[in-house]
Amino acid sequence: MYRYKDLSVELCGIKFESPFVLAAGPPTDELDMVRRAFKQGWAGAVLKTTHVESVKVDLVYPMMSSINMEDRRMAGLGNIDLISRYGIEEVEKRVATLKKEFPEKVVMASIMGSNKEEWQELVRRLEEAGVDMIECSFSCPQGSMGQRPGAMLGQDGDASKMVTQWVKSAAKRAPVVIKITPQVAFIAEIAKKIKEGGADAICASNTIPSLMGIDLDTFVPYPNVRNKSTYSGLSGHFIKPITLRTIAEIKKNVDIPITGTGGVMSWSDAVELMLVGATTVQLCTAVMHHGYGIIDDLKVGLSNYLETHGFSSPMELVGKSLPFITTHEQLKRTPLVKAFIDEEKCVGCGQCYVACRDGGHQAIEFDVEKRLPKVDKEKCVGCALCPTVCPVEGCILMKYVD
Ligand SMILES: Cc1cc2nc3c(=O)[nH]c(=O)nc-3n(C[C@H](O)[C@H](O)[C@H](O)COP(=O)(O)O)c2cc1C
Repeated sequence: MYRYKDLSVELCGIKFESPFVLAAGPPTDELDMVRRAFKQGWAGAVLKTTHVESVKVDLVYPMMSSINMEDRRMAGLGNIDLISRYGIEEVEKRVATLKKEFPEKVVMASIMGSNKEEWQELVRRLEEAGVDMIECSFSCPQGSMGQRPGAMLGQDGDASKMVTQWVKSAAKRAPVVIKITPQVAFIAEIAKKIKEGGADAICASNTIPSLMGIDLDTFVPYPNVRNKSTYSGLSGHFIKPITLRTIAEIKKNVDIPITGTGGVMSWSDAVELMLVGATTVQLCTAVMHHGYGIIDDLKVGLSNYLETHGFSSPMELVGKSLPFITTHEQLKRTPLVKAFIDEEKCVGCGQCYVACRDGGHQAIEFDVEKRLPKVDKEKCVGCALCPTVCPVEGCILMKYVD
């Protein structure tokens, strides 16, 4: 039996047995599913976004489509899902049941209201049911119900601050997390407003509004819902860089705890989110693709990483990369950097030559007879396009030159 290191983390005063949490979505929309996930080792779950009883959630099917990349299925997942079809009356029962059966797990509920009374009622009822944390969805890409179609609460700093204040004034015990959208011009300004509103943490971030692709025969974008479509929320693999930027920019500008979500498919993705400032990491698409069992790999991978790098707790990872992120102007211009090709490793494909010739600085020559590329060190500016296209890991290295 594998012996994990202590993987526990603390967010807003609440202890999680590991940083790995199920994000609000289909994997948390049924009581039995969450039970199964907890038994398999997830530290917590955010139940899919709920609402007051009077709201009718009008779902359409099919609601998903995906982008495949060569042999990788579902490199990006698009959905036109809405919030849960289960209202607060069902969710409060589930919270109470889960807390009774799994007192050591962190049970979070996600809420969305359309006015002050609704937000506050949802908070009060969930607290009474025993919820550990409340996440407020300010970022449903299909639009907050009753508001401008397509608009998200999290795109308006003042509105975000006001709703955060409503929620915080109703919450007597449970920490309040605000789930934002990365689809704004200045993410740190929105985060500052949310902090001013009194939020205990930010969930960064959510799916990215997208149009998933178009069927060239029917002209209808995906997903095709009886010959019409609409904008999807993109999740999974492809969105991790956006999530990393979002978390880093918030964390560098605003002192607020973060739970990260968006594009985490493996333990190493999760570590990256922590290195830029996330304390816990929420997954949805990876679970929808590979099932709850990925928790074993996440925990083993994190545990090994901590061991090999000499960390005693995952908390030591939080924000460790932030000092290495600066502005473009502050990046050093010297010493110069050049490409060096390892001829032993080179397979002679010529990709670096073509890329440099047509997309770089024409600094690579190609000996057709020997099938070997050669870098002209005078012409090479060190842009690093060639190692990016090279199919052999470690064949082209960028090195400093005096
Ligand atoms: C089908 C689907 C439904 C989702 N429903 C919700 C929801 O009800 N509330 C919410 O806050 N986020 C919802 N999300 C967003 C996820 O919680 C998560 O933040 C997002 O998918 C990014 O993480 P991932 O790349 O790990 O999937 C949903 C995502 C998917 C794919």
